[in-house]
Amino acid sequence: MTAFSLLVNGVEHTMEAPAGAFLLDVLRDSLGLAGTKEACAEGECGSCTVLVDGEPVDSCILFAGQVEGRKITTVEGLGGDGLHPVQEAFNALGAVQCGFCTPGFVVAAAALLDRVGSPTPDQVREELAGNLCRCTGYDNIVAAVVSAGAASEASVASAASVASGVRGGGS
Ligand code: FES
Ligand code: FES
Repeated sequence: MTAFSLLVNGVEHTMEAPAGAFLLDVLRDSLGLAGTKEACAEGECGSCTVLVDGEPVDSCILFAGQVEGRKITTVEGLGGDGLHPVQEAFNALGAVQCGFCTPGFVVAAAALLDRVGSPTPDQVREELAGNLCRCTGYDNIVAAVVSAGAASEASVASAASVASGVRGGGS
């Protein structure tokens, strides 16, 4: 066994695990973060996607020891105290059927929104090509991500407009 120290969802965890333990197993078995799913276990389906320093990675093929000192975010930590806009959009637009692939999609989509703000359907399809769903046919998933991006962008624009009004009113 080897001692690991991992920063997950803003909390530092110290634990013991086999030297070759994969991040996915440490998250689920040692930390009880079962939201991240294992499907293929070969880096092919994206069900196990988490963020490492904001970048989506397949946690089933990443050794836990490789990410010590990095910032890891799982689906449980994505929205802070509430739901992330992508999670709200998945609920609203029926983008979940069996739900097994959903955490991976949500995490990868959140990273996409962080990077490009309001993606087009083609951008969503391209970016999420590594995430596989056996249930939905993808249309509702793509629609949910596009909707979440548009809603987030509108809320940023509205906040900017309020801030500029406040600045204008104060001069
Ligand atoms: S379970 Fe990790 S990519 Fe499929
Ligand atoms: S909702 Fe079932 S695999 Fe995607």
